[in-house]
Amino acid sequence: MNILAIETSCDETAAAIITDDLEVLASVVASQDKLHERFGGVVPEIASRAHVQRILPVIEETLRRAGLALADLDAVAVANTPGLAGSLLVGLSAAKALALALEVPLIAVNHLQAHIYACRLAAGRDVFPCVGMIVSGGHTSLYRCAGPIDFELIGATIDDAAGEAFDKVASMLGLKYPGGPSIQRAAEHGNPSAWRFPRALLKDKSRLDFSFSGLKTAVRYAIAGPGRPDFSALNLSEQEVSDLAAGFQQAVIDCLAGKAFLALEKTGMKRLCVGGGVAANGPLRARLEADARRWGVELFVAPLELCTDNAVMGAIAVERFKAGKFEPLDLDVRPGVVRKKATL
Ligand code: KG4
Ligand code: ZN
Repeated sequence: MNILAIETSCDETAAAIITDDLEVLASVVASQDKLHERFGGVVPEIASRAHVQRILPVIEETLRRAGLALADLDAVAVANTPGLAGSLLVGLSAAKALALALEVPLIAVNHLQAHIYACRLAAGRDVFPCVGMIVSGGHTSLYRCAGPIDFELIGATIDDAAGEAFDKVASMLGLKYPGGPSIQRAAEHGNPSAWRFPRALLKDKSRLDFSFSGLKTAVRYAIAGPGRPDFSALNLSEQEVSDLAAGFQQAVIDCLAGKAFLALEKTGMKRLCVGGGVAANGPLRARLEADARRWGVELFVAPLELCTDNAVMGAIAVERFKAGKFEPLDLDVRPGVVRKKATL
């Protein structure tokens, strides 16, 4: 059985074909990084327009690489939540049209569950139940995952997502978008202790939430000082940029690792799965590995190519297919994330 998975939740137009035994036959990702670079972040209107231009060529190329025709597809899966409304709509419309024309089932993919499913796919074996941590441009959240499609929110950022902070701090430091990889590179030559940035909520063991907006402001003051908004006038040396990047990155890593392991302690779970763009961060991965060894936790971090948005993680549709969870053709997008949180 072949499932076509479509992903357009943010600024990546992606499609993949996966079999019911989780073999990936083809995967194509058309990145929009170049279009958004000069704005230092994703511009929703530009993203939706680019999805419209790219979605059909991306699907055609995916079929070509898999050596399949449209008639060989047995189901169409699409991420319909959460994400940018205009972006999600492009993928959903394409998926509905194909499902209708081919008379195959339509399957809804939760983009956040899919980020965690990337760990399951790469592991080649069951990773549930686990604590799932999603660290991306739009989300920083912790879930108690009883199974691949059974998630309960236990912690989340109360303001910015970690990736959003990486992107904004990179922009303040004059580094290229997307900020995560740029900050990681700059931080390699920096001293993480040159600046002592705040680790909001880290000491508060009663909650599993994150906050990164104060950290962003702290970096901004470290660069320019209060009341000096014009960053372009500042000439930071390469070493200063590296030290600021390293100090910022270390603060984010301390918060992410601290809360992830607090979640394991509170839930009594022994497995941690981490996905989303920020999970590509090398020093974060190294820190999680060290902590996991220390606390006897089984760690699954999505492989680098499956951290940032892609359609391979839409393989989670196989689980929904097996559970008989299909959608009617009036399926809508749900841009916002469900914020009902369990108390531990
Ligand atoms: O999961 P993703 O592709 O899109 C969303 O669903 O948001 O994540 C994109 C985010 C961006 O903010 C980007 O700066 C960040 O992931 N990112 C990184 C790294 N690579 C990408 N952050 C830190 N270190 C990295 N190496
Ligand atoms: Zn994502």
